[in-house]
Amino acid sequence: MMNIVTRNVLPDDAAALLELKKALFSETQFMLYEADEYPASAEQETGFINHFNESVNSTILASELDGELVGFLGAAGGDSKKIKHSAQIFLGVRKKHWGQGIASALLTETMSWARRIQLKRLELTVSSNNHRAIKMYHNQGFELEGIKKCAISSNGNFEDECVMGYVLK
Ligand SMILES: CC(C)(COP(=O)(O)OP(=O)(O)OC[C@H]1O[C@@H](n2cnc3c(N)ncnc32)[C@H](O)[C@@H]1OP(=O)(O)O)[C@@H](O)C(=O)NCCC(=O)NCCS
Repeated sequence: MMNIVTRNVLPDDAAALLELKKALFSETQFMLYEADEYPASAEQETGFINHFNESVNSTILASELDGELVGFLGAAGGDSKKIKHSAQIFLGVRKKHWGQGIASALLTETMSWARRIQLKRLELTVSSNNHRAIKMYHNQGFELEGIKKCAISSNGNFEDECVMGYVLK
């Protein structure tokens, strides 16, 4: 792997994170937003980063290569007592860097963090057409827990979504 650093995202990264997200939303259909849809300004993005850093059961990580953010992972912790042991994950990596282990490194770091703060569960949803991501999550120990039928509407087609989870021992 190249010299890629996995690190926490800081408020000063707001503009770079926003740029990364916009690039991801336009180069893959597998993120939640479409390219023209994400409203955040750098100020809003700073608020988003602060929210993740201030919440004890949330975190936001980035992969940096030569000063450029090429991937990120957010883990959003549950906000009520009954679900605060669990965090919902979302992530993306720039297409030109796929297959270099970047997402796996982000997930490995997130699992260590989750263990450190004694979370019990990580979970995510992923389009059933996103074979690449599903394979990677399986490799990392996530299990398929269910299917949400027609959960995504993409270019006029409905897609099922896989619910995947990882229970920390
Ligand atoms: C899914 C995604 C995050 C993977 O990132 P990545 O940095 O390329 O992932 P890694 O290099 O760590 O792992 C890739 C793994 O995918 C699998 N893979 C690679 N090419 C594949 C293919 N063509 N088909 C199926 N699986 C494939 C392999 O298992 C590979 O791991 P291995 O080679 O070590 O066995 C990235 O492709 C991405 O950002 N996609 C668009 C956004 C997205 O889908 N986000 C997740 C939504 S839930």
